[in-house]
Amino acid sequence: MADSMEKLVALCKRRGFAYLASEIYGGLANSYTYGPYGVELKNNIKQLWWKTFVHNRVDMVGIDGPILLHPKLWEASGHVGGFNDAMVDCKNCKKRYRADHLIEKATGKDLEGNLEEMSAELAKNEIKCPNCGKADWTEARFFNMMFKTEMNGLDGAIYLRPETAGAIFIEFKNVLDTNRVKIPFGIAQIGKAFRNEIVAGNFIFRLREFEQMEIEYFIDPEKAWEDIFEQWFNDQMSFFLKLGAKEESLRRYEHPKEKLSHYSRKTVDVEFLYPFGWGELCGLANRGDFDLTQHSDASGQKLEYFDATNNRRFVPHVIEPSFGLDRAILMTLLSAYTEEGEGEEQRVVMKFPKVVAPVKIAVFPLLRNKPELIAKAEEVFKQLNTRWHCEFDDNGNIGKRYRRQDEIGTPYCVTVDFDSLEDDSVTVRDRDTMEQSRIPISELVNYFTNNLV
Ligand code: GAP
Repeated sequence: MADSMEKLVALCKRRGFAYLASEIYGGLANSYTYGPYGVELKNNIKQLWWKTFVHNRVDMVGIDGPILLHPKLWEASGHVGGFNDAMVDCKNCKKRYRADHLIEKATGKDLEGNLEEMSAELAKNEIKCPNCGKADWTEARFFNMMFKTEMNGLDGAIYLRPETAGAIFIEFKNVLDTNRVKIPFGIAQIGKAFRNEIVAGNFIFRLREFEQMEIEYFIDPEKAWEDIFEQWFNDQMSFFLKLGAKEESLRRYEHPKEKLSHYSRKTVDVEFLYPFGWGELCGLANRGDFDLTQHSDASGQKLEYFDATNNRRFVPHVIEPSFGLDRAILMTLLSAYTEEGEGEEQRVVMKFPKVVAPVKIAVFPLLRNKPELIAKAEEVFKQLNTRWHCEFDDNGNIGKRYRRQDEIGTPYCVTVDFDSLEDDSVTVRDRDTMEQSRIPISELVNYFTNNLV
């Protein structure tokens, strides 16, 4: 586990997991580009999520909705009126902060939502600006976090979606009409969401453009929901364990009743122990019938379910497991990061679970200036590359090549040496144990089929 964000950020840049975006223009507001290994890791996590929560279940289907959706959706959902954070500016250095975050850090008080109290608390405690040290603040005021843009043919503003969930609710009827889904069932979606966060930061923890993996799980309001809710919580936890989280770095945080959003009966977060402290990793909420009722009232369309077994028509309730993909990536990177060994033997190794490792196998010819070794190594590479994502590397000495693959988190390295030309075998080196075994080339596909699971 990485004990500092700096070490992880440096490795991500050095090895091509994530770069500061727009860097040649000086960077842009804490946004990041996933590099060649980062995008592989990201895609593997997405695929594992889809397999776990959609394909491996009989009660789930998926959709892929647009980022730009009808503005009325966000009025009905309450985002236009209430998706606000409280901000204050330092009068001295002009830096902007979340008022509730400053107060919570200084006093431990959670004053979300009350602007007057926040302003008073900042003054009373003489809370200092983290940037310049002065305690001279503007009044706290609300700021709507949705990004606005314009669309040809539409009067007024249109928003970049602040969560993926909206598209799921408004397609509820289409999914019912086109699929043989029966309650309880869920609709999943992975995609970008945008929030004009007052302060973004901590690498990919808080971004303004990020990706969510969300599920709306529709249930019968007359049946008990607590067990379904707990099962989803356990499934969320198991997913993070599959991504390599240690049990002790995950915990449950239940939102106190008095802090719940008006539509929520219960909200629980999975929190992760980041190097900067415990923070939200994903959420789970019972949203009741709030969303379907709101969209039904605002659109004039009935968003109901008909249960043919007992002739009942009703508006389903919804359990919402909501994952942030970038936070799942951050958690996976932090959990994989390992420093081990002493002196010459010291190494940094990313011990990713094999299923999400960006590269599964690296193939090395022992020397780059021996055409017969290169040809044999290429033959091995071609055999493996169509089944697993492989990398070919003939650059530098073998020790350095191992160190590079350790930092990328590649589970296996295959070296083709002079003996390979005689015995048609290669050396396979295991990332975690560093043990090396001699395996016949004809056995490699079998070997990796059994071991890359
Ligand atoms: N539909 C419910 C919803 O959006 P949320 O708690 O606001 O709930 C869900 O967001 C998840 O999305 C969070 O648990 C987090 O993983 C991720 N997330 C939210 N804001 C984010 C941000 N600014 N940067 C990165 N991830 C974010």
